[in-house]
Amino acid sequence: MKSSRITGLHRLEVPGRIDELERLGWLSAADAEILRLGRHVLTGGRADRIVENVVGVFGLPFAIAPNFVVNGRDTLVPMVVEEPSIVAGASNAARLARATGGFESECPESLLAGQVHVTEIADVDAALASLHEGKAELLAEADAVHPRLAGRGGGLRDIEFRTLTLPDGGNAIVLHLLVDTCDAMGANLVNTICESLAPSIVARAGGRAALSILSNLADRSVVTARVRYRLADLAASGLTAEEVRDRIVRASELARADPYRAATHNKGIMNGIDAVAIATGNDWRALESGAHAYAALDGGYRPLATWSVVGGDLAGELRVPIKVGIVGGTSTANPAAGLAMRIAGVASARELAELTGAVGLAQNFAALRSLVAGGIQAGHMKLHARSVAAAVGTPAGQFDEVVGELVAGGEIKASIAREILAARQTSIPADASTAAGKVILLGEHAVVYGRHALAVPVPAAVAATVTPTAEASRILMPDWGIDSGIMPEDPSGVGPAVLRIRRKLGIDDGDFLIRVSSSLPRGMGLGSSAALAVAVTRAFGAALGLDLDDETVNAVAFECEKLAHGTPSGVDNTIATFGEALLFRRGKQLEKSMLTLEAPLPIVVACAGRAGVTQQQVAGVRAVPRYY
Ligand code: MEV
Repeated sequence: MKSSRITGLHRLEVPGRIDELERLGWLSAADAEILRLGRHVLTGGRADRIVENVVGVFGLPFAIAPNFVVNGRDTLVPMVVEEPSIVAGASNAARLARATGGFESECPESLLAGQVHVTEIADVDAALASLHEGKAELLAEADAVHPRLAGRGGGLRDIEFRTLTLPDGGNAIVLHLLVDTCDAMGANLVNTICESLAPSIVARAGGRAALSILSNLADRSVVTARVRYRLADLAASGLTAEEVRDRIVRASELARADPYRAATHNKGIMNGIDAVAIATGNDWRALESGAHAYAALDGGYRPLATWSVVGGDLAGELRVPIKVGIVGGTSTANPAAGLAMRIAGVASARELAELTGAVGLAQNFAALRSLVAGGIQAGHMKLHARSVAAAVGTPAGQFDEVVGELVAGGEIKASIAREILAARQTSIPADASTAAGKVILLGEHAVVYGRHALAVPVPAAVAATVTPTAEASRILMPDWGIDSGIMPEDPSGVGPAVLRIRRKLGIDDGDFLIRVSSSLPRGMGLGSSAALAVAVTRAFGAALGLDLDDETVNAVAFECEKLAHGTPSGVDNTIATFGEALLFRRGKQLEKSMLTLEAPLPIVVACAGRAGVTQQQVAGVRAVPRYY
């Protein structure tokens, strides 16, 4: 089973996120391509067939909240929403809920009521008796209106009757036609049934059918979602876990006592519910009116979710009407809605309702937790800082640090973000040790068959400094998102390479701070691992006054390349060290001759942003039929 627990999605850029979700199996190759090409976006032509007087299409962010477990199933949540903090809040709340198995959510019945209001009735009692008597016939008549719905196991299940007294003292009878709409939200189905049955109803009751339309107070489709947060997971912003728990319970009590607070409390819940409804093409206005009417059903306006202490933990429960569909309406007309539904992986309308309820409860928890611990503005500031950092083009590897510095400085502006970036870029001094990257200009594949290849250097692509430190050894490489101790089992390969350099240079003692800047992306055939090894080897030499000639540096870097690539050809470390063009040919011994270019060669290197696996590329080209 796939895990919805995904770390670091927020640090990637949009194409990287799509790649990652595809790699993890949450997006099919076809859906990933739809997103990359923007084919999920409703076209103007389609939009024109949905409403009147269309002049264009309005965009909103389409995001994914990871980490959700609902009724034991790992799932990602598609969310369409323009307010910062909502997606992050939901993801975080879902992450914490995993410790207790996630959310339980149930929607025991999913009926939509159509109402027929009959007014100007001469004798209400007689009308009611006649309607009760004709109920079976009315039920049968409804099946004939929508035979396909009946065929799918849906249809009119029951009819309930209420009487009303109007302001002028007159009476009215309201019929509630309770329809099982199967996997559709069902507004159109129900409205058709109401309009079709209205003449028969009037024939029995007398009077006039004043209104025939569904009720959005969908209290026959109520979702109950529950979650439990472990006490141990609740501490935040300098507050103890108990303080956070008790303050959330207090917030819930305040919402119960104060309708002005309850409105905002419920707005936070609807932040989540609406975002899922919009993503899946559902009618969020219907959900809004239903939720607020339900909150006011007992005469006062109440919070839809409440929080209490259970066994020391924090337990939350949400009850809210959610009548949504997975077929029909915009859910079919808008390609983004279909995509969202595939991402959520819901098999029925009821399952979508249960998921939506869980997201509402997660959102309420996230809002209350930030409100009681530090206030909501801190989170908003962070998100604002994120969008400012993105706007000034902060590289992924430095993103979190730049955001952190912006927030800590208290002034979140593009000009400050640029200053922070510039300071970070110049934090590697001009006299740092450098190494070249490489581009294979010609023969990248021919070389596999023993032909020549010509490689050229990317000069000074990696720079490093080494300084002794009183703390434990550390490597800082913001461009690759590395800020760690030097560990032999470091999966990035950087720790083992540094250890091998120290061993080869005989540096047994001492702790060092190694700072590296790289304009090379990793794993994209530009010789980044060799350039890193050369620059760090030279930086150790400079720091400790070792007199390292280029041959020694090259030999040390070759040893590091063996760590990264098993049996490397030696090309990368040679170019990284000498920074000259190189003609080479594989054989038992690598044949290589350095070439000095008479003039610099301008080259544009385009980076697709996706790491490739050389072996697969080589096999793919080899598989193409040869015509020569
Ligand atoms: C903001 O969109 C939602 C909150 O106001 C909800 C709440 O106060 O519970 C933060």
